[in-house]
Amino acid sequence: MTKGKQLYEGKAKIMYETGNPDELLVYYKDDATAGNGAKKGTIADKGIMNNKMTAFFFEYLEKQGIATHYVSMPSEREMVVKKLTMFPLEVVMRNVAAGSFSKRYGVEEGKVFASPTVELFLKDDALNDPMLNSYDALALGLATKEEIAEIERLGLKINDILKNFLKEKKVDLIDFKLEFGKDSSGKIILGDEISPDNCRFWDSDTHEKLDKDRFRRDLGNVEGAYKEMLRRLTGEER
Ligand code: ADP
Ligand code: TMP
Repeated sequence: MTKGKQLYEGKAKIMYETGNPDELLVYYKDDATAGNGAKKGTIADKGIMNNKMTAFFFEYLEKQGIATHYVSMPSEREMVVKKLTMFPLEVVMRNVAAGSFSKRYGVEEGKVFASPTVELFLKDDALNDPMLNSYDALALGLATKEEIAEIERLGLKINDILKNFLKEKKVDLIDFKLEFGKDSSGKIILGDEISPDNCRFWDSDTHEKLDKDRFRRDLGNVEGAYKEMLRRLTGEER
């Protein structure tokens, strides 16, 4: 596997070409941002921990029949993935009220929903990732009706799989953000990452936050929360 030209540097990861035109190399950074880059910092070893946790979740999802972009993990901070044409959408799955949902609807954080909800946001930093509904996404030509239905179906299925898995690890899956793309055959595949950066994980007994809200809200022990999640998932300390 050769690390080729840098294609894109995002807030948390850098994407490189590889020798294979169908694959990319993802480099996971320690950089952390919140509020669309308004708050910036670093979380020691976050890149290593998020790479490992994402690989773990993607391998688990693959075993459960979900197609993901994961190919291999050549080093602690690097992941080889299938190159996708990403939908410019952030797909947020929620089981329990928190964050922007609680603010928007005036619902206290921690209220458990009778059934999960799916929200779509336009992935556009300049516009601050506004929320949009499936008709808006269709009107804007971001995806077809069938693709939107498939993205929502996959989101709900992934939520079910991960919620049940995490329950065994004494972690409540409050909400999380997914990104999907299409491969060259048009198949919809789960891309990006699944880590404490883009999920809310609460300890099932104490409701202690084990995710990036510790950074966003200055709660302290940010590294410790990431470490604890990695330990619960893989048994590893780092
Ligand atoms: P951001 O762009 O939000 O700052 P990152 O730093 O995580 O985020 O950068 C990763 C970028 O790579 C994101 O824009 C994401 O949509 C994109 N991406 C994720 N998986 C793939 C993939 N398999 N193929 C192409 N692009 C991808
Ligand atoms: P929210 O409550 O702020 O809308 O966040 C919902 C979930 O989505 C939460 O787990 C964090 C994640 N998320 C991202 O991964 N990226 C983002 O840009 C935002 C706003 C949220």
